[in-house]
Amino acid sequence: MVRTSRAVRQTHRWISMLFVVTVVATTIALAVGSAASVWIVYTPLLPLALLLTTGLYLFALPYRGRRRAQ
Ligand code: HEM
Repeated sequence: MVRTSRAVRQTHRWISMLFVVTVVATTIALAVGSAASVWIVYTPLLPLALLLTTGLYLFALPYRGRRRAQ
């Protein structure tokens, strides 16, 4: 269980960097005006969705542990 939570934390950490890269790349693509189509603005949504799910898991971790300890 500890290994799972550590893996999820590492995943969250590295996807956050991937998310930043997609935001910067999307911003540059729009600023330069080379965006082939409008849906490029949705690119960061995939890593953001993964951040949301792993982030909610990380948020719930301390409360799950407390309940089991009682
Ligand atoms: C989208 C919804 C998100 C949720 C619900 C969420 C939730 C969380 C939670 C609960 C933690 C653990 C905090 C703790 O130590 O107790 C965490 C850690 C962290 N979050 Fe998020 N997060 C989200 C998005 C993001 C985004 C957008 C970024 C940055 C681009 C980010 C970067 C990080 C980093 C770097 C950590 C520390 C990871 C580590 O301990 O190594 N998160 N997040």
